[in-house]
Formats: sequence, C-alpha cells, structure tokens
Amino acid sequence: MLRNKRILLIIGGGIAAYKCLELVRRLKERGASVRAILTPAAQQFVTPLTVGALTGERVFTDLFDLTAEHDIGHIRLSREADLVVVAPATADLMARMAHGIADDLASTALIATDKPVLIAPAMNPRMWAHPATRRNLAILEADGITRIGPNAGAMAERDEFGEGRMAEPMEILAAIEGHFTHVGSATLTGRRILVTSGPTHEPIDPVRYIANRSSGKQGHAIAAAAAAAGAQVVLVSGPVDLPDPPNVHTIHVESAREMLAAVEGNLPVDVAIFTAAVADWRVADAADQKIKKGPQGTPALHLVENPDILATISRHPTLRPHLVIGFAAETEKVVEHARAKLARKGCDLIVANDVSPAHGVMGGDTNTVHLVSPAQVEDWPTASKAEVARRLAARIATLLEGQA
Ligand SMILES: Cc1cc2nc3c(=O)[nH]c(=O)nc-3n(C[C@H](O)[C@H](O)[C@H](O)COP(=O)(O)O)c2cc1C
Repeated sequence: MLRNKRILLIIGGGIAAYKCLELVRRLKERGASVRAILTPAAQQFVTPLTVGALTGERVFTDLFDLTAEHDIGHIRLSREADLVVVAPATADLMARMAHGIADDLASTALIATDKPVLIAPAMNPRMWAHPATRRNLAILEADGITRIGPNAGAMAERDEFGEGRMAEPMEILAAIEGHFTHVGSATLTGRRILVTSGPTHEPIDPVRYIANRSSGKQGHAIAAAAAAAGAQVVLVSGPVDLPDPPNVHTIHVESAREMLAAVEGNLPVDVAIFTAAVADWRVADAADQKIKKGPQGTPALHLVENPDILATISRHPTLRPHLVIGFAAETEKVVEHARAKLARKGCDLIVANDVSPAHGVMGGDTNTVHLVSPAQVEDWPTASKAEVARRLAARIATLLEGQA
C-alpha cells in the first residue's frame, strides 16, 4: 500500500523525536520514500546524520540554504510528497501551523504544501490541555488536518502521567496506511456538495435565543474533507466559533428557517450532508423589543415546530440530491433511533452518534459513529472528527461511483 508513496516527515523538537527513527524504518520497509525536515529544536534530540542514514536521502534543516534552494527548495520539498507527516508535532509547531507562521523550513513547508497533513502531537499533558493548544487544535482540525494521538500514559518527565504521549510508530504507520486506503478512492472532483453545520439560534427577543451545544466541528471537518477530496463545497453554518474551512464557500445563518432558505437557494447539488443540530422548535412570536422583568410576571414561551430541513430536502419533488445524508445525535438507543429516523425522513444514510455528556462528543474533538443505511449498520472506530470526515468523504466517493 505504501510502495512508491512519498512521505515528507517533519520532525519537531520533543523527546518523542527518537520514535521517528523507528517510523522511518517501518515506512522504508513498506516501500515508501521518506524525506525529512528537522526543526532546529529537533536536532537537539536526533541528529540529521541518523535520520539521513535511515531515510537514505539528504535531510533538510535550513530555510536559507542556497544549495537546497537551487536543488530542490522549500516549495518543491513541500509539494513533492503524497502526504506530509508531522511527528512529533510540538505545541509550538501546532501553534505556528494554526496561525500560518512561516519562520523556519518546517513551518514554511507546512504553509506552502498543497498535500494532506497528518500530525502526531506529543507534549506534556499540561501543554496538551492548555487552552492555547486546544484552540490551535480546533483550528487545525477545521483546516482539515488529520491527527493521530496523543495517547495517555507515563511521560518522559518523572512522575508525570496523562494525555500527551506521541502515538507509537506502528500506530502512526497505521494512520498513514489508513490515509492512503481512503484517499485511493476518495475523489470527489467535479461533485457539488452541500454541508450544514453547527447549531441554530432561535430568537426569543432581540438579545435572547434558544440554542444547543453543537460546536460545528464535525460539519466543518466534513466540508473541509470534501473540498480536500476535490468537491465544490457549500457550507451553510449556524453560529459557531470556528474559522471558515479553506476552499469552501461558507454561508452564515442564525435560525432554522434561514438555514433552510440557504440550503434551498444552493440546490441542485450531488450530495447534501445535514450535520447541523437544527432546533426542533422556535418561539412562536419572538418579541421585537427586549422583554423586561416586571409585575406581569415570568413570560411563557410558546414554541412552534421548525421546518424539518432533512425531510424537506430528502423529499424535494424536483431537486433532491443523488445522495442525502443526515446526522442523528442521540443520547440513548442510538442505532435504533437512527434507523427510525432514516425511514421517517427519506434520506439515504444516517450517521448516528451518541451525544450523551459522558461521551464528550458535543464540542469535543473525537466522535464514535455508526453509519446506518437501509441495508446495514456499520460501527466505525472512535476517531478524530477530521478522520470521521475523511472516511465519510471516501465513502461518498465510492457510493457516487456506484450510482454512475
Ligand atoms: C528536554 C525537552 C523536551 C521537550 N519536549 C517537548 C515535547 O515533547 N513537546 C513539545 O511540544 N515541546 C517540547 N519541548 C519544547 C520544545 O522543544 C520547544 O517548544 C521548541 O521551541 C519546539 O520547536 P519546534 O516546534 O520548532 O520543533 C521540549 C524541550 C526540552 C528542553
């Protein structure tokens, strides 16, 4: 599977850099070619000599290296690869990637590349849990970057335990192989795909609204993955705290009714994926002015049903997309409810996930989903939302090929 695949391995400055030597050996054994970039900090942990001996290629370390610029240079280096792997991805490298900082060869190659990027973060648990790293990770995942690990366990520092150990070389290898399995079939070039994402806000008055806990991370990741697989993507997003995914036409809406109008306004498409957590109800008569506290007592909210976007588009008389995919966020009997929803709404597939608070899916970075079709249920392993998105994009490509 990895024969003749070209991997650009970017090694960051963490203790786990030594594990990359093993990764290089395993990649080479499987027939991949590996070019390595070492950050200045990485060279404190492994030497260019050792890495070069194992890759069998020259190792790249300097941005301003005249010989390299004449010979291969940072732009070619970043493009002449099938996959860019960052391992260990330090907190610093993740921050620079998230913010587009290009101040050494590694970060410049990362912003110049047009290839998919897989990161294997490794850092102290406190660094991993820090709000800055959380923010950077959310940005990277929204940009469509895939992640493997980190794992929980003992740290190199004495008496430190927690989440932050780099995934083992064989796990990173499996993620690389997984990438090529999906990518092999995931071409969506020429397809028009519409994705909805995030919550909706239903106004009570001009300053108050009814909302839900959807973060939009999964929907945005799907839009990014579909675009990365070559599709022309329209994303209709409710209010979220995420950047617009790259190469995606993003339309921002607030309420369910606005979301439906934006969806209808962007048909026809080949595929519609309804990831948004649309409010089932809205306040019947939202007040024009802020509702004041007063002797009239507590206001009663009279709710009415919102339009059902998934059912409306699934049963559209003229513009039904070839493939309509719904999401089911359930807190119990996940698959049973998803099956019922599939039949009720008239869509082709339901991606069901358990959003009980214990699973941390709402707002979290991983997801455990079940793909429910009329014929079968597939249980997918827990993965990052970006990985779930990539797998879904690959599956859509296969399904569309089957329909052609
Ligand atoms: C002994 C030692 C171990 C370190 N391990 C890590 C690590 O595992 N993860 C990390 O994010 N930073 C680690 N750091 C800090 C990074 O080396 C530092 O942030 C550096 O600027 C990263 O540069 P780079 O991202 O360009 O490789 C370590 C530093 C030292 C001195």
